Amino acid sequence: ARHLLGIEHLAPEEIKTLLDLAETYVDLNRRTIKKTDVLAGMTQINMFFEASTRTQASFELAGKRLGADVMNMAVAQSSVKKGETLIDTAMTLNAMHPDLLVVRHQSSGAVDLLAQKVNCAVLNAGDGKHEHPTQALLDALTIRRAKGRLHRLTVAICGDIAHSRVARSNLILLGKMENRIRLIGPPTLMPSGVAELGVEVFDDMRAGLEGADVVMMLRLQKERMDGGFIPSEREYYFRYGLDAEKLAYAKDDAIVMHPGPMNRGVEIDGTLADDINRSVIQDQVEMGVAVRMAAMELLARNLKAERGRVAAEGL
Ligand code: CP
Repeated sequence: ARHLLGIEHLAPEEIKTLLDLAETYVDLNRRTIKKTDVLAGMTQINMFFEASTRTQASFELAGKRLGADVMNMAVAQSSVKKGETLIDTAMTLNAMHPDLLVVRHQSSGAVDLLAQKVNCAVLNAGDGKHEHPTQALLDALTIRRAKGRLHRLTVAICGDIAHSRVARSNLILLGKMENRIRLIGPPTLMPSGVAELGVEVFDDMRAGLEGADVVMMLRLQKERMDGGFIPSEREYYFRYGLDAEKLAYAKDDAIVMHPGPMNRGVEIDGTLADDINRSVIQDQVEMGVAVRMAAMELLARNLKAERGRVAAEGL
């Protein structure tokens, strides 16, 4: 494929190939050799229309470690502030001939739309409530390394499912890899129709966590709640916040995950989040660089092959 827009477009074998390549980059990043020339001569532009710490930093590092020329577009200082549309902005950058465009946008579907207008490879760094494919891939690599496999696991995804692109991409990926998925959260934060996807839905944390191998916590995405239901944080933590007492219902060796940014004392107890015997939150961040290196390498290979075919046909 030319782009990485969502997990829904990936076959299980493609996911495995990407994770296997990412695994080699974990080793490379941990050693002193920090740079390769896989993307030498290629230009990567990062366009983040929504705030980001982990995704933007790791895409930038990933591109630099692969030898690309990386440019971060400062959206706040750009002509977007003067009313230029997303598509006009993308077309403008496209005219400068980038090879890879990494885009985060607050509107679901915006990145897919943009991908239809440009000549380069586009990577979705999160679009509205739709998808965050590289997050699901880095979560998958973290789970595979911690559990030794990525199938036949019971994975509990907890909290604000309705507004979470992380939940959606994980749901699709973990489903493709034949895991048992449980969604836990208040009914008001559960999207309609999820039970039809073959997942189990729980309102009660203790019942939902029973026997889980993986516990994935999510932030309340208040910025996407449109002024609608926002639970009191105190009440929410009491019922849905993960602490040691609730985690005891999961398997003894269950791992705790969170994509970040996390709100300590709202969806997760801070001490538990920092407990390196249970929490793999920092591993997730580390895997983010490796997975994004792998994703960009695979897309760059496809792009070079496509350009080679076009050039051959033009002769
Ligand atoms: N997990 C994630 O997407 O974090 P950022 O918003 O900091 O990129």
